[in-house]
Amino acid sequence: MFRTHTCGELRIADLKRTVTLAGWVQRIRRMGGMTFIDLRDRYGLTQLVFNQEIDAVLCEEANHLGREYVIRTIGTVAERSNKNPHLPTGDIEIIVSELTVLNVSATPPFTIEDDTDGGDDIRMQYRYIDLRRNAVRANLELRHKMTIEVRRYLDGQGFLEVETPVLIKSTPEGARDFVVPSRMNPGQFYALPQSPQTFKQLLMVAGFDRYFQIVKCFRDEDLRADRQPEFTQIDCEMSFVEQEDVLQLFEGMSKHLFRTLKGIDMQEPFVRMTWHDAMKRYGSDKPDIRFDMQLVELMDVLKGHGFSLFDEAAYIGGICVKGAAAFTRKQLDELTDFVKRPQIGAKGLVYARIDDDGVKSSVDKFYTQETLGLLKAAFRAQTGDLILILCGDNVNRTRKQLGELRLELANRLRLRDKEHFACLWVVDFPLFEWDSDTQRFYAIHHPFTSPKPEDIALLDTDPAQVRANAYDMVINGVEVGGGSIRIHDSALQRRIFQFLGFSEEKAEEQFGFLINAFRFGAPPHGGLAYGLDRLVSLFAGVDSIRDCIAFPKNNMGRDVMIDAPSRIDDVQLDELSLTISE
Ligand code: AMO
Repeated sequence: MFRTHTCGELRIADLKRTVTLAGWVQRIRRMGGMTFIDLRDRYGLTQLVFNQEIDAVLCEEANHLGREYVIRTIGTVAERSNKNPHLPTGDIEIIVSELTVLNVSATPPFTIEDDTDGGDDIRMQYRYIDLRRNAVRANLELRHKMTIEVRRYLDGQGFLEVETPVLIKSTPEGARDFVVPSRMNPGQFYALPQSPQTFKQLLMVAGFDRYFQIVKCFRDEDLRADRQPEFTQIDCEMSFVEQEDVLQLFEGMSKHLFRTLKGIDMQEPFVRMTWHDAMKRYGSDKPDIRFDMQLVELMDVLKGHGFSLFDEAAYIGGICVKGAAAFTRKQLDELTDFVKRPQIGAKGLVYARIDDDGVKSSVDKFYTQETLGLLKAAFRAQTGDLILILCGDNVNRTRKQLGELRLELANRLRLRDKEHFACLWVVDFPLFEWDSDTQRFYAIHHPFTSPKPEDIALLDTDPAQVRANAYDMVINGVEVGGGSIRIHDSALQRRIFQFLGFSEEKAEEQFGFLINAFRFGAPPHGGLAYGLDRLVSLFAGVDSIRDCIAFPKNNMGRDVMIDAPSRIDDVQLDELSLTISE
């Protein structure tokens, strides 16, 4: 046997056993005539001991080992005099009798400890070394367990895992496609799937009834901490269901994952909130409901008192920050700078402090103490609280700005406890969104989402008011998953395509296969997809999904380890009938 035990396995019960271990040299310490080595593998660390007085040659060999050398060692398990309670193997050490160097290592470019000195770029360039660190490895172990539990749960519910193609025709999900040129069909391109949306619908037409797939999806969009150009979905679809069936089944899956992976038993049904309420109360379609600080509209209280900024606004609203009246001028200036950032885009911030003498605001001269008293009452504010107010000419845009300010304050006040999970369903999304740049409506979700039957009549009269049978699962302010009940009627599907500006020919060219399939007996169906990377990172308590992906891309969509994307040579370009214009 190459090794008898792993480096995480031996305990006091193994005393006096002769064992063989193999692994990487994490650390070497010399003390007097002794050399101590921490030997690491995926399972843990074990301390090796070499004693100059017992075997000077062996000890000298140990002294010449370097960090990350791969060694094999035979020795006897002994009790440690200086026990380490933080290490599962901390009660024992190995008195080494034989040492073999299996491989040497160059000096690693950063320390392989939980808190490493390696910056992001260098860690990504040497990701295979970074992955030796406990923290990153633990996230991948969690990811593995999550996919096992997802499969266990869905298999138990009768779902079949079916693979769908990666070289496809583009499916519109709102992002840009990555495309792949076809050598055999010069001038033509495949698209990589943004999701298997149309295929899972075709599987429903095929009668598969319950489908899932843990699947890579590809989107060419601007990257953020929670976005990667290639990411993984737990993609699901069901036939003969209504929205309620889908919500129940996947609420069950989330609860199963919390129970099996985090030991959290969620008894209560998840909160349900309409999109409209989420926007109104939290200024977000993915509200973090771990803390309160809800938005309060103040048009009635503050409009019409001669303060032109407010008087001209389409929306005035605020939040009440408990116990924050003592914020300094500097802190308030920082918050003002925060809302004025281009990403937020507010013009300024008005504040009101509640203290023993009444309400003191930055716009005192426009308001009587009586009006300011109404302001205080609107929030049920108390002495010591701080009210922050924004206004704007676009209702939802201003609500979103206030929503961002709410999150910023919660971050500053540490109200977003990563070990506390608040799950909810956001339902009744609008079907369309108006884009003022292009002067047309877009499908918020995708063009296959069904409108609520009672709203179909509004398609002709007031399309912005049409609600969709669409839902998102939100955990701690993160959109973890989303889906909808689909249109299964080809006439309605045509009408929606038409509404979205697809000509008859364009719809036929892009989705002819789907429209055609719907002619052959499409069952009512619906589904959703979870973002696996986001779900794992929430469970792991990390801020970036990159920490839960073995080989992620950086903010520019580059894999700096393999140096991709990269140029291809002229022969390859020729074969693909491509020329690069520069
Ligand atoms: P949607 O576009 O909402 O729906 O995606 C589903 C979930 O996938 C995750 N996600 C991402 N994760 C990491 N990086 C990205 N770039 C990224 N984009 C999305 C999110 C999101 O909630 N076909 C539909 C699902 C359906 O209707 O059934 C779809 O793809 O967690």
